[in-house]
Amino acid sequence: MDHPAIGTQHDLASKISSRGATVGIIGLGYVGLPLAAACARARFPTVGFDIDKTKIDAIGAGRSYIDAVEPRELERLVAEGSFRATTAFEELSSCDIIVICVPTPLGVHREPDLQYVENTARTIARFLKADQIVVLESTTYPGTTEEIVRPILEQSGLLSGKDFFLGFSPEREDPGNKRYTTTVIPKVTSGDGEAASKLVATFYEAVFNEVVAVSAPRVAEAVKITENIFRAVNIALVNELKVIYDAMGIDIWEVIDAASTKPFGYMPFYPGPGLGGHCIPIDPFYLTWKSQEYGLRTRFIELAGEINTSMPSYVVAKLERLLDRMQKKSLGSSRILVVGIAYKKNVSDVRESASFEIIRLLEQRGASVEFHDPLVETVPTMRRFPEMAGRVSTGLTPLEIERFDAILIATDHDDIDYALLSAHARLVVDTRNAIDKRGFATPSTFKA
Ligand SMILES: NC(=O)c1ccc[n+]([C@@H]2O[C@H](COP(=O)([O-])OP(=O)(O)OC[C@H]3O[C@@H](n4cnc5c(N)ncnc54)[C@H](O)[C@@H]3O)[C@@H](O)[C@H]2O)c1
Repeated sequence: MDHPAIGTQHDLASKISSRGATVGIIGLGYVGLPLAAACARARFPTVGFDIDKTKIDAIGAGRSYIDAVEPRELERLVAEGSFRATTAFEELSSCDIIVICVPTPLGVHREPDLQYVENTARTIARFLKADQIVVLESTTYPGTTEEIVRPILEQSGLLSGKDFFLGFSPEREDPGNKRYTTTVIPKVTSGDGEAASKLVATFYEAVFNEVVAVSAPRVAEAVKITENIFRAVNIALVNELKVIYDAMGIDIWEVIDAASTKPFGYMPFYPGPGLGGHCIPIDPFYLTWKSQEYGLRTRFIELAGEINTSMPSYVVAKLERLLDRMQKKSLGSSRILVVGIAYKKNVSDVRESASFEIIRLLEQRGASVEFHDPLVETVPTMRRFPEMAGRVSTGLTPLEIERFDAILIATDHDDIDYALLSAHARLVVDTRNAIDKRGFATPSTFKA
């Protein structure tokens, strides 16, 4: 590979440090919008691109649709002209740095669905010009940047590492986490070749507090997927232990609290009703798919998936036993209120939430089910469970609570009156230890 002119690298680096470089962010969702706001805050002229016109219109009106982006800050960035959004992808040619934040879901056979990444790369290739930096941030299997994105971009006739600079930098956003916001989380960066590595790191150093540069895009891709596999496997482990300890009459939450006092060699993970969100239930299977190319299996990942996906059935079975024992009622003739349908506490994101699988299982058995979620007024349209769209959150008054035979806590948002729930419910089945943790346990509250 020819080496790029040192002058080009130097020009780009000084354009970054002088904030003369324009940043284009493609995909303005949970990852792209906070990143775009961070770039604009770091004084880069920032342009957001999305195929979803409603998002472009919302930004144009200074309206944030992502919890992590303060409405007032977005309004200010748009009003002062440091951030704007468009569907006019030809404007990519006037960007110096292009960051890809599009979805990477699984296909029907749990295979990586890279159509969004590939389509975006094809769009960039149409407008690519010399000396641009292109970074993929979407979570994916090791090899995607070099094996999928680079060849598509090089169809433009320009070469990576010589004419343009390509890299991968994983997104580590933790929705709902007030302490570790976008730019506080150390940013792992990488580039295809030395020049790209340096330029990608230089760019992110201007936006993030700390940059951790690794040797190649496939390493950075593996970092992200390793972090998420670590979570999926450890959550599966405590979910399995929960079932075993429950049979032994041992409270897993008490065990975890005490184990967490060990100052080394232990890190707490908490059980729940099953995995949710756009990352942990999905990303590990990207590696499972890629490993097959090497004739290898990912047994830990597959076992973790099996245990975590069995949790909704476990919770429903426990609820059924408790209804029978405490109220002499069959599940099929019961009215159940599921509290919390977001996939985790204090966020409004419902993607892949275990609550929907639980509702489906309960309704399949004939139960009449409603939900309450202070952050989700109406169920949005989702790829899975499209039939749930449009359902509306039930209020949480004493009268409402007393209408139900059982309350099933699936998500432990802070903004729920657990004292009220505990005082008025006939039976509570709590998958998050929300009641006992707050000191509201009664003979009618149980953990599952
Ligand atoms: N949500 C998280 O907390 C999180 C955390 C870490 C990593 N990630 C990863 O980041 C990536 C993006 O996830 P997200 O949660 O932001 O997804 P999202 O669905 O919230 O947003 C993706 C956006 O991309 C847009 N889009 C799709 N195809 C496009 C195209 N061809 N051109 C332009 N825009 C297009 C969509 O309209 C949407 O607005 C995924 O790979 C995900 O795994 C997400």
